[in-house]
Formats: sequence, structure tokens, C-alpha cells
Amino acid sequence: MVTRRLFVVVAAGVAVLWLAASVSAGFAKAPQGGGIAAERQNQVGLTSLARAHAERLLRDRLACLGCHRLGDEGGRIGPALDGIQDRMTAARALSMIRDPAGTLPGTIMPRQPMPERDARRLVAYLFAGQEAPRDRPLAPRPARPDLPADQRADGATLYARHCAACHGPEGHGDGWNAPALPVRPTAHADADLMSRRPDDTLFDAIAAGAYILGGSPRMPAFGEMLDTDQIRALVRYIRSLCACEQPAWAGDVGGP
Ligand code: HEC
Ligand code: HEC
Repeated sequence: MVTRRLFVVVAAGVAVLWLAASVSAGFAKAPQGGGIAAERQNQVGLTSLARAHAERLLRDRLACLGCHRLGDEGGRIGPALDGIQDRMTAARALSMIRDPAGTLPGTIMPRQPMPERDARRLVAYLFAGQEAPRDRPLAPRPARPDLPADQRADGATLYARHCAACHGPEGHGDGWNAPALPVRPTAHADADLMSRRPDDTLFDAIAAGAYILGGSPRMPAFGEMLDTDQIRALVRYIRSLCACEQPAWAGDVGGP
């Protein structure tokens, strides 16, 4: 009798425990994100979803790795982004991404248009693993002089400053940074290729980057750093490199 009652009590206890366990397991799998919340505790400030998103942005969408190294990938026009937390605060990095020219006057880093959410995600990714943002102030850097007024819209000067590292000084697609890219920069001196490109297409690629035209995301968007006159000067300069014109069919829409 006693053993039987004990059995009932024990069985009831096991059932309660089992119920409790399955309820909490159910919570852990709930779509509200128990799994993601758990991740969040393991990785400082970054969920695995956010990490995957940041990696996809860097790999497939943005031009950052055209100029910056990260791990064993990327160009060398800018400083490597590894260990960035030792050089600056997350706030300054975010500011550099949002507004390079306002953060570091005279920088050649062109602002890459992106939603605020993506900019924050990149910073969270680059600073992941860091317990708290450091507030060690960054040593002030000397502002770089802007181009003299008479060279501001000079195609050759602009090309040497912003394009030659990838496209090569003569536009052969062989700049010193080209080997660090997954695709060869377009050879602007290639008359055969360039005579198939309308001037408007070149303008758009320079302004918005090659990605929106179906090309490589490593070709940066310069439209927020260079104005219309400067981009037109670059299109004319590309025409001088290839010694060619746009296709006749594109002619009378009024190129640059
Ligand atoms: C055309 C090349 C270019 C592209 C594209 C570019 N950057 Fe930069 N970036 C630079 C250069 C050059 C500097 C160094 C500042 C200077 O001296 O002008 C820099 C500086 C920075 C800095 C400050 C780092 C430091 O140590 O001073 C951060 C952060 C940064 N870039 C992030 C990014 C991110 C993120 C992207 C993509 C959205 C990006 N950059 C795209 C060229 C580029
Ligand atoms: C970080 C390297 C890099 C820099 C800097 C760069 N480009 Fe590019 N650019 C590329 C790559 C790579 C491609 C090839 C894209 C493709 O073929 O998918 C490209 C493609 C282009 C195209 C598209 C050509 C076509 O096929 O229609 C134009 C136009 C162009 N770049 C102009 C410029 C100009 C002008 C500058 C300077 C203001 C510049 N690029 C700076 C890497 C760069």
C-alpha cells in the first residue's frame, strides 16, 4: 500500500517534471526567437543571423572589400578593417561609414549609400567580440587638402586619384590594387569594349557603382563624393583612354 502510494507520487512527480521540461523546450523553439536570444548571449552583441547578413553585405553587395582588407580578402587602398577596435571607437567607425568626408575631411573614401540598419550591422560585425566600445580618443588626423579649384573637374587628375589604383594609370585594368579583387577592373583603354558602352552607362556605373548594372559590387559608388561635372569629366577621360566613342545609337540622346 505504502509502496503503491509512493509509486503514484513519484510517477506524478516525473510527469510534472516531464511537462515542465517539454514546455521549456517548446519555448526554446518558439518562433519568437528563443534560439536567437540564446545566441545573443554567446556572441557579444551579434546574433548569428546578423553575422550572416553582415558577411553577405560585405561579400555580395558593398564595395568595402574593393578597398579594405578583412581577413585574407580585400584590397589595400584603405587600412585593413581587422583589429579596428584597437584604433577607434564604434561610434567613429559608424560615422566614417555614414559620412566619410565629414568624419575625415579630404578622405578618398566615397560614401556608399546604404540603409542606416546596414551601416549599424557592419559596425556591430566589425566590432564583435569586443566587450564594450572603447572610448580611447582617436588621435586627430591631419585633414587632406582638397583638389585645387582648377583641377576639381579635371578628368586625368580625378582618374589618377580615385580610379587608377584599380583600373590602372592608363586604364588597362591593371592597377596595383587589381590583384586583390575577385574580378578584373574594366579596361577603359579597350576600344572594342568601350565603344559598346553608352556614355550614360559609364556615368551610371561611376555614380552608383557597378552592382546596380549587374556588375561587381567591388566597383564603388562615387555619386556622393563626386558631382555631376566631375563624373562627366571622368566619362570624357575614359573616352580619351579608349580613343573611342559611344555606340551611334546612343549618340543623339545628348551625352555628357
Ligand atoms: C574607394 C575605396 C574605399 C571604399 C570603397 C571604402 N573605403 Fe573605407 N576607407 C578608405 C580609405 C582610403 C580610408 C582611410 C582614410 C583616409 O586616409 O582617407 C578608409 C577608412 C575607413 C575607416 C576608418 C578606418 C581607419 O583605420 O582609419 C572605416 C571604418 C572604413 N573605411 C570602413 C569602410 C566600409 C565599411 C566600407 C564599405 C561600406 C568602406 N570603408 C568603403 C577607402 C575606401
Ligand atoms: C576598388 C577598385 C575600383 C575602383 C577604386 C574603381 N573601380 Fe571601376 N570597376 C572596378 C571593377 C572591379 C569593375 C568591374 C565590374 C564588373 O566587370 O563586374 C569596375 C567597373 C567600372 C565601370 C563599368 C564599366 C562597364 O563595364 O561598363 C566603370 C565605368 C568604372 N569602373 C569606372 C571607374 C571610375 C571612373 C573610377 C574612379 C572614379 C573607378 N571605376 C574606380 C573596380 C574599381
